[in-house]
Amino acid sequence: MRGKSVVILTGAGISAESGVRTFRDNDGLWENHRIEDVATPLAWYNDPVMVWRFYQARRNQMQEVEPNPAHLAIAEFQREHGNVTLITQNVDNLHERGGSESVIHMHGKLETLRCESSEESYVCMNLEHLSPDFVECSCCAEPSRMRPDIVWFGEMPMFMREIYEAVDNCDVFIVVGSSGHVYPAAGLVDVASQMGARTILVNLEEPMNAESFDEVHTGKAGEILPALVKTWLDEV
Ligand code: APR
Repeated sequence: MRGKSVVILTGAGISAESGVRTFRDNDGLWENHRIEDVATPLAWYNDPVMVWRFYQARRNQMQEVEPNPAHLAIAEFQREHGNVTLITQNVDNLHERGGSESVIHMHGKLETLRCESSEESYVCMNLEHLSPDFVECSCCAEPSRMRPDIVWFGEMPMFMREIYEAVDNCDVFIVVGSSGHVYPAAGLVDVASQMGARTILVNLEEPMNAESFDEVHTGKAGEILPALVKTWLDEV
């Protein structure tokens, strides 16, 4: 792949071996709530305490999990190959903690909170930010409640202009650990294909959009990605 522009899109599957639950494996439920019923603006309006509990649990869990060999392999590929745009649907910080420098979080991030008045986002991972109580901003004269800095169902994913710019112009498009359920992320492989890119999937099993890929490697990302990255780096 030497000299080629590469885009990598990751999903919950890449964090599975770190102990972060995926969305659609087994039941994809949280305390018997469907994610689709918790991660929405309406849920936040109707039951902010329940939504806050859901995200505080996931924000606190981030302290207990570590990057796995798949995160490390992608960071190595970014360093060695040089022309890699990394986009993730994940809201954890495991790519960064695995050594990846620039990561485009299209569905937001757990480690930041967003002021509901100014819409400004800040890293809020100190002890006082991780309690069951709502967190107030320090950016407004009259402190406002802060919301999870997450793209909820029905909201627009972030950085889509940058993402389409990268996908439109890439030579190789690689997806790791995503079920191809949620658009626009699930449709990026088709955009890449239409622009003539080589498309590669690394996933535990064949997802819904498997037939959109030129190459499919099934298995656990933490187990098969390190060897694949070595192959890609050796390719001319
Ligand atoms: N290695 C590789 N793939 C794995 C592993 C693993 N160890 N474990 C699970 N997988 C695969 C599953 O087979 C599944 O196809 O990862 C995929 C995870 O799919 P989802 O749980 O649907 O996660 P994702 O595709 O990231 O969901 C997209 O949906 O709920 C929204 O915003 C949320 O970003 C999320 C989006």
